[in-house]
Amino acid sequence: MRSFLFVPADSAKKLDKAMTSGADALIVDLEDSIALEGKMRARASAAAFLKDAAGTAPRPSILVRINGLQTGLADADLDAVAPAKPEAIMLPKAEGGVAVIHAGAKLAVREALSGLPDDHIKILPIATETAKALFVAGTFAGARARLMGLTWGAEDLSAELGAHANRDAQGHFLDPYRLARTLCLAGAAAAAVSAIDTVYVDFRDEQGFRRECEEALRDGFSGKLAIHPAQVPIINEVFTPSPQALARAQAIVDAFAKNPGAGVVAIDGVMYDRPHLARAMRLMANGTKAKS
Ligand code: COA
Ligand code: MG
Repeated sequence: MRSFLFVPADSAKKLDKAMTSGADALIVDLEDSIALEGKMRARASAAAFLKDAAGTAPRPSILVRINGLQTGLADADLDAVAPAKPEAIMLPKAEGGVAVIHAGAKLAVREALSGLPDDHIKILPIATETAKALFVAGTFAGARARLMGLTWGAEDLSAELGAHANRDAQGHFLDPYRLARTLCLAGAAAAAVSAIDTVYVDFRDEQGFRRECEEALRDGFSGKLAIHPAQVPIINEVFTPSPQALARAQAIVDAFAKNPGAGVVAIDGVMYDRPHLARAMRLMANGTKAKS
């Protein structure tokens, strides 16, 4: 999946609009975009939306961002939404694989009550929102059965670090957040799941957003979070492999298939070895997924 669009759970209008946004997945938010007084109403609205959407096909995957395990709100969030069977829960402020196992145990109880098999509802953790989380970003492999991928966040982390900004004047992330981004990439690769790049809040800046999508693709992310429908087509375009890229990947795969014992092949005067083959196969898999 390439594009994940955040939608505040208390906005019927945005939920409706999001369904036809073209996003591969929607993230119905019960956390930061909902004030404390509004949590109960938002939970009911999220559950009703999930039930309505269940009958619609084709439709985006639907995730629900619950409140963090530290808040005391997560159990009531799960009680409300798990019976409505979201594809996944987004877990904010996740501190390593232990947090996923903890949230997974909570889900397992609700899955049993709703007649769902174990590990049916996946988890997409936001893996870098606290200082502690940075030090355990490499521990997600043990929780792999629940993982939909790994994503990262800079807003809560900058608040915790006491920073005044997380981007420079040109809109590029500053060092602590570049580290968090890299730890998300490495943590996802170590757990053999997809890495999804974080939000770009300046939603009128199309050029800056496109640049950040291209940098994310270049570095190994397979998709990006969106906060506004206008960001969705840009994500889908950038993260869908071009016909040229697919043809090049196919040529690499074919060259190795013709030379099964070879560690290295040459195509049009360029050397390709085993890591190139792995990359080509991954690109072709992403191309197939983008079409489905
Ligand atoms: N999902 C679905 N629809 C959305 C949307 C979203 N995330 N963001 C905006 N829209 C809709 C608006 O309702 C509006 O609909 P309309 O044309 O029928 O009136 C249209 O898209 C254009 O919106 P626009 O006027 O450009 O923006 P806005 O001022 O209404 O909204 C935000 C700006 C930031 C409040 C809004 O984009 C938003 O709520 N984003 C998600 C916030 C969130 O979930 N944050 C938590 C994760 S960080
Ligand atoms: Mg947050």
